[in-house]
Amino acid sequence: MSRHKTPKESETIMTEIVLPNDTNALHNLRGGKILHWMDIASAIAAGRHAEAVVVTASVDSVSFENPIKLGDVVTIKATVTRAFRTSLETYIEVTAENLPSKTHYKCNTAYYTFVALDSNGKPKVVAPVEPETAEEQEKFAGAMRRRELRLVLAGRMKPAEAKELQSLFANLEKL
Ligand SMILES: CC(C)(COP(=O)(O)OP(=O)(O)OC[C@H]1O[C@@H](n2cnc3c(N)ncnc32)[C@H](O)[C@@H]1OP(=O)(O)O)[C@@H](O)C(=O)NCCC(=O)NCCS
Repeated sequence: MSRHKTPKESETIMTEIVLPNDTNALHNLRGGKILHWMDIASAIAAGRHAEAVVVTASVDSVSFENPIKLGDVVTIKATVTRAFRTSLETYIEVTAENLPSKTHYKCNTAYYTFVALDSNGKPKVVAPVEPETAEEQEKFAGAMRRRELRLVLAGRMKPAEAKELQSLFANLEKL
């Protein structure tokens, strides 16, 4: 396994412009199109970290805060928050910009999980993540809970094995 890598090393920023073919009847960017751009940016970030081909294993917590208008410029920023054994979690943030009015607005966020594959198409062990900033450390810590939740929901982990989730709920009960 290679050395620890920082989230900054995997950071991927993609810029697109909303064209008529990308929009719905309200002239807003279609949800499917934005999910596609998010998948590409986060796959590049995960592939950069893993130094391997990656496949999307799951998509979680996608929230659409604001519609993105025809003609606006969209920036998709993706970073790896944490690597597990062969899988990696990425966080994606989407913002948009209206060029004539110079206004910027937040659009949506999500977590995508990828699995790195070796040349035989088998899951491959990836390097650990070393968070640097306070925000990176927060995302790193939360990644274990999110992993447990997605694996429990996917039927790949027994609830009794989800220790981080259990301690989260135990702490909430004390409040
Ligand atoms: C993702 C995939 C490679 C996992 O293969 P598998 O045979 O189940 O492999 P394993 O059981 O060894 O699991 C490998 C990793 O995937 C993770 N994983 C599997 N299913 C997952 C899910 N639904 N959500 C999150 N992680 C998942 C496991 O937790 C494990 O991670 P870890 O090594 O960090 O603990 C396989 O299910 C697959 O190829 N899926 C289709 C991917 C695809 O076509 N994506 C769309 C196009 S890119």
